[in-house]
Amino acid sequence: MLHLIRTQAELRDVVFRLKQKNKTIGLVPTMGNLHEGHLSLVRQAKVDNDVCVTSIFVNPTQFNDAEDLKKYPRTEAQDILHLEREACDFLFMPSADEVYTDNPCLLFQFGSLESVLEGKYRDGHFSGVATIVSKLFHWVSPTVAYFGQKDLQQFRIIETLVKDLSFPLQLKMCPIVRENNGLAMSSRNNRLSTEEKTQAAHLYKALTSIKELIHTDELPNLINQAKAYLSAQNINVEYLEVVDAYNLQTIKENKKQKAVACIAAYVGEVRLIDNLFLNHFKE
Ligand code: PAF
Repeated sequence: MLHLIRTQAELRDVVFRLKQKNKTIGLVPTMGNLHEGHLSLVRQAKVDNDVCVTSIFVNPTQFNDAEDLKKYPRTEAQDILHLEREACDFLFMPSADEVYTDNPCLLFQFGSLESVLEGKYRDGHFSGVATIVSKLFHWVSPTVAYFGQKDLQQFRIIETLVKDLSFPLQLKMCPIVRENNGLAMSSRNNRLSTEEKTQAAHLYKALTSIKELIHTDELPNLINQAKAYLSAQNINVEYLEVVDAYNLQTIKENKKQKAVACIAAYVGEVRLIDNLFLNHFKE
């Protein structure tokens, strides 16, 4: 049965009792509006651990656009149904006041890891992510915490957070879950019309074309071709880059191993991100 927890105090109490019984805990942090991508993390957490804790909290400190925060879909009742179906054990769903008594003054900086890709366009975003994820790690003390590959840069930032602050836990990155047409699952897809959903599938096609042609041409040419293809589909690309899958710095030569193509683009008014590993890759 899914047990709903609203306060830090109750969460700490539940975790204390689980630890006393030597239970392993899988944590799946989310902002709700759950889809198959999130549910795949819950399933993996259930397989790996005695107990799964999912959190739902639309974290204000990671939004640099107040409108975006306001528009973020809140679908509590539907999310609870999904988690019940997946036999998730605990749902931590606090109010904003429960999480932040005041505006936090602590800021995180991740150097070259955040000056690229999303970090270039979303000032302060990763500091906000690091703040909420640190709080969750303290409160839940998970054995393993689960995040999706779709937010690859977020995963690298959280890896750094765990290493630098010595959080005693493991991180697991789970593969991107896609619609049949290749569109990466995202809460933002709900804001796309039916036509836009079809149009958005071109993002994955563009990434796939880079992967398929990687041994035939120089990377900058492949990227330019992919950008031209997307522009012909009326898709407004914010960035499309091939980067090292670990340090996220731009790769110019296609010989390098562990490369990943990353994209952010607007389909209509909706900003979407996606990525694809370009060579054989094992985390
Ligand atoms: O990936 C997300 O949904 C959020 O950034 C996270 C990790 C739950 C922190 O608010």
